[in-house]
Amino acid sequence: MTQKRKIMVTSALPYANGAIHLGHMVEHIQTDVWVRFQKMRGHDCHYVCADDTHGTPIMLAAEKQGITPEALIERVKAEHLADFSGFHIGYDNYYSTNSPENRHFAEKIYRTLKDSGKIVSRTIEQLYDPEKQMFLPDRFVKGECPKCAAKDQYGDNCEVCGATYSPTELKNPYSAVSGATPVLRTSEHYFFRLGDCADFLKVWTAGESVRGDGVMQPHLQPESLNKMNEWIEGGLQDWDISRDAPYFGFEIPDAPGKYFYVWLDAPIGYMASFRNLCDRTGIDFDAYFAPDSDAEMYHFIGKDILYFHALFWPAMLKYAGYRAPTGVFAHGFLTVNGQKMSKSRGTFITARSYLECGLNPEWMRYYLAAKLNARIEDIDLSMEDFIARVNSDLVGKYVNIASRAAGFITKRFGGTLAADLSDTALLDTLQAEAENLATAYEAREYARALRDVMGLADVVNAYVDANKPWELAKQEGQDARLQEVCTVLINAFRLLTIYLKPVLPKLAEDVEAFLDVAPLTWQDAGALLLGHTIRPYQHLMQRIDPVLVDKLIEANKQSMEQQNPTPESAIEPLADTITIDDFAKLDLRVGKVLACNFVEGSDKLLQFSVDLGFETRNIFSGIRKAYQEPEKLVGRNVIVVANLAPRKMRFGVSQGMIVCASGTDDADGLFLLDVDSGAKPGMRIS
Ligand code: 2FM
Ligand code: ZN
Repeated sequence: MTQKRKIMVTSALPYANGAIHLGHMVEHIQTDVWVRFQKMRGHDCHYVCADDTHGTPIMLAAEKQGITPEALIERVKAEHLADFSGFHIGYDNYYSTNSPENRHFAEKIYRTLKDSGKIVSRTIEQLYDPEKQMFLPDRFVKGECPKCAAKDQYGDNCEVCGATYSPTELKNPYSAVSGATPVLRTSEHYFFRLGDCADFLKVWTAGESVRGDGVMQPHLQPESLNKMNEWIEGGLQDWDISRDAPYFGFEIPDAPGKYFYVWLDAPIGYMASFRNLCDRTGIDFDAYFAPDSDAEMYHFIGKDILYFHALFWPAMLKYAGYRAPTGVFAHGFLTVNGQKMSKSRGTFITARSYLECGLNPEWMRYYLAAKLNARIEDIDLSMEDFIARVNSDLVGKYVNIASRAAGFITKRFGGTLAADLSDTALLDTLQAEAENLATAYEAREYARALRDVMGLADVVNAYVDANKPWELAKQEGQDARLQEVCTVLINAFRLLTIYLKPVLPKLAEDVEAFLDVAPLTWQDAGALLLGHTIRPYQHLMQRIDPVLVDKLIEANKQSMEQQNPTPESAIEPLADTITIDDFAKLDLRVGKVLACNFVEGSDKLLQFSVDLGFETRNIFSGIRKAYQEPEKLVGRNVIVVANLAPRKMRFGVSQGMIVCASGTDDADGLFLLDVDSGAKPGMRIS
């Protein structure tokens, strides 16, 4: 082994007001595989996480449930931990941001920043809900888009035309909490002067640190660095770190009624969780957090929270007198069957439902790991591919090796492996891959690692077919040969198990029991198991029955309805009565989609070319999040409001509107309307 490294690793802290779903699992599995790999290499690697417990949404969620925020976060933490444990995520500590350690560090960091002039206060104007008597975060103000007049848009951006604006620009704003019309009020807020840290951030974002083994580690992935450069060059704005009461969080020292914004104390929660671990186990906290620390610190995060981790967090650490991270590793989002996870389609899959439907967590660990690499790419969970790949790789190629050899060893040789081998060519090939595979895991190139492991499994299966142990077993005088072939196979299986262990920790544990060996480490790949007695083989892994996957999708359709029963207020009130003449003013036509594409620069819109029989229209529609494979819409019928005045948008003129069904909640989804077959483009709806 190279030098022993000191490593601290985190996954982003899940909010304490929602269930863990497969989107979270991508990140926590990615992190866990890396941590398990580092531990197998013999390094001191500590994996900490916590629930992110503060903020307005959590305060309001508790209120809605009629409990205190403390009771809510305690219950949710237990649920989160059970879900993560169910997927074998091996944190060394799973804590809470609502902890004494976190309060201590938040206050300490704040005071140090303040003393060095990095915190300023000024009075700002913000929308206030006079009924609920609270200031409204942007997402809690809704109204009409100031640009395109679309109704019920959030206070920060319009989902229809993609415009961004401040909540005070919304027309006819209303509070999403009480429905009241908000009023403008002033309040004193505290700001972190990020612009003052620009010189440091320019250097840090483009920089690298030396790892404990002497290798250089860039702080950011190339894609992240580009983004940060754009942001830094665009000018770093002061960051508002305070919120007014009522708020669930930590009150700011010497500022009664003012609270730290949840995003201030969330990353500090990494530190607090680690401190708590150190206090319980005797790890030297300062060795990890002192400014000159030679320990490594890595944060695994989603691409949406880079700003916080690659700018605010390093700046906060640096100017509060701590070390900055060694690396921030961002990943993309999870899509299911090529589309954004959707509650209505049953693809917003909770970790709990997955476990309760009887699916093996290691199937998902393997599948997701087989798709992960070091880049910030979205990854797709295709249910068909999931079943096919797990069944063919894990069961077909890997587990079967053991089942094909173990029976002979047990029945014919009392469970004892051959004491020496005349031909180790196959095992030499497998052993020679140990460092290549380690390099891939270290670099978070799990897809490559697993592809290579399965390539090795193919070689082992070719050896089985060439040596045919089942035929040797029938031949006179071939006992020694049979024992040797099966010993090679059991050793090959053991080596493959070492290489898969970061991904499949539970299966590896079962294999260790079957082989009757101590927990396997990476170094064990250097030796073989000879003259050793193994235990009788017991089946290690089932194939995925597709019925289970159907059950999972169904369960998520149902459980979402159960969890989020449509509240009375969510039924859109019926509009005013109209006359038949009013209705006749609307000219709705059947249109056939000729082309449908993404719109560059907009993550909301799709651009349609629609045949209305008598002419072809260009129409922009804000339904991208519900239809992420636009090419699949080509050829289908839609319903178009054909006499709507053309509207000039940022990306061109929209000549009409495609109608959609939608609920009052975004999560309800959007659904295009269809017509029965036989309808022709241009037909009028009446
Ligand atoms: O985006 C989120 O889900 C946040 N709760 C992540 C916080 S990560 C860290 F900074 F605490
Ligand atoms: Zn708009």
